[in-house]
Amino acid sequence: MVNSQISVAGMETSPTIGKPPISPPATSPESPLPVVAMTFTQAAAYCSGCHATNATNAAAKEKLVGTENITTWVNNKDAIVSAVDSDLMPPSPLSEPSKASFLKFARDPRQ
Ligand code: HEC
Repeated sequence: MVNSQISVAGMETSPTIGKPPISPPATSPESPLPVVAMTFTQAAAYCSGCHATNATNAAAKEKLVGTENITTWVNNKDAIVSAVDSDLMPPSPLSEPSKASFLKFARDPRQ
């Protein structure tokens, strides 16, 4: 009981409110920019040329079809994330910033 009283008293003398924010580690060169998710329209533009319902790429549509519909993204979320994360898709892989922004959308697809 003595120890718990000391610990409570210690907490009271170390308030977290009003403390300065913790600095990033010295090894961090600069804080990365926060990744902003693409919109559905932006993400679909990378895929719909081959995977939209009205596209003419039979081989592509055999694997994934209907990228103009948000439900396709929800129902195929894992396959889409995996294909883009591994640079399999799109056939000309996205730049790193675009890929991060695409994946942020694809992991939580909403219109
Ligand atoms: C230029 C045409 C083209 C574009 C653009 C394209 N794809 Fe594909 N995609 C294909 C073709 C062809 C296949 C089937 C052959 C293969 O699996 O490589 C395919 C296969 C896939 C598959 C199945 C992969 C597997 O493991 O079998 C997924 C998932 C996929 N595409 C997602 C996407 C997404 C998401 C985008 C947009 C970021 C995209 N594709 C853009 C042509 C395309």
